[in-house]
Amino acid sequence: MSEREFRTVKASQQVLKELMVPSYANFGGKVHGGQILSLMDKVAYTCAATHARCYCVTASIDSVDFLNPVEVGELLTLYASVNYVGSSSLEVGIKVVSEDFHQGIVKATNTSYFTMVAIDETTRKPVPVPGLVLEEDIEIKRFLEAKMRREFRKSYKAELRDARRALDIDRELWRLDGENCRITR
Ligand SMILES: CC(C)(COP(=O)(O)OP(=O)(O)OC[C@H]1O[C@@H](n2cnc3c(N)ncnc32)[C@H](O)[C@@H]1OP(=O)(O)O)[C@@H](O)C(=O)NCCC(=O)NCCS
Repeated sequence: MSEREFRTVKASQQVLKELMVPSYANFGGKVHGGQILSLMDKVAYTCAATHARCYCVTASIDSVDFLNPVEVGELLTLYASVNYVGSSSLEVGIKVVSEDFHQGIVKATNTSYFTMVAIDETTRKPVPVPGLVLEEDIEIKRFLEAKMRREFRKSYKAELRDARRALDIDRELWRLDGENCRITR
């Protein structure tokens, strides 16, 4: 791939619609969260691979909050868009909504951010991806926000790693006062 290649956000945007059938239900009769995650991973892959025009893997997924339960019989729609492109990685933003046909109600289900990495299928090493053409203010905003998230992820990981290394359980026992646990060692 030429380093000067750029593609628009719109060229890889995806919309995936799927009817929530009874086999997707959990023991409580609602759609299983894992089913929704699987669809999110699928649409993230399609979006990333369309932009990169090569095989991509999921490197990380930001936290996923399920805002509303999804019922069997509803139509789930997933909107995916490349927000940010690094050297070999891409952040894909995904918004999920569910629609109740009978009542005509559309509910926000969740939003999350998937980091996908383009991979050479032979060497299995990361490969460069095309840049992103930002045509609208909303695309510039999303790119800047994704860049911030990338920086926060890196600093969060580093801080967490350092805090875990420094953790002395005897010194920190006082933090368990009032917590829902009992020490029996
Ligand atoms: C993701 C993976 C390719 C990264 O490989 P690596 O040798 O660590 O690659 P690098 O350190 O060169 O990083 C490559 C890019 O990935 C990004 N990256 C790597 N690990 C990441 C992570 N955990 N979260 C977010 N981004 C990550 C880097 O920031 C870098 O981005 P950039 O090129 O845009 O600057 C590798 O860890 C892998 O293959 N993981 C398994 C993926 C998989 O199987 N997914 C399905 C899960 S079941």
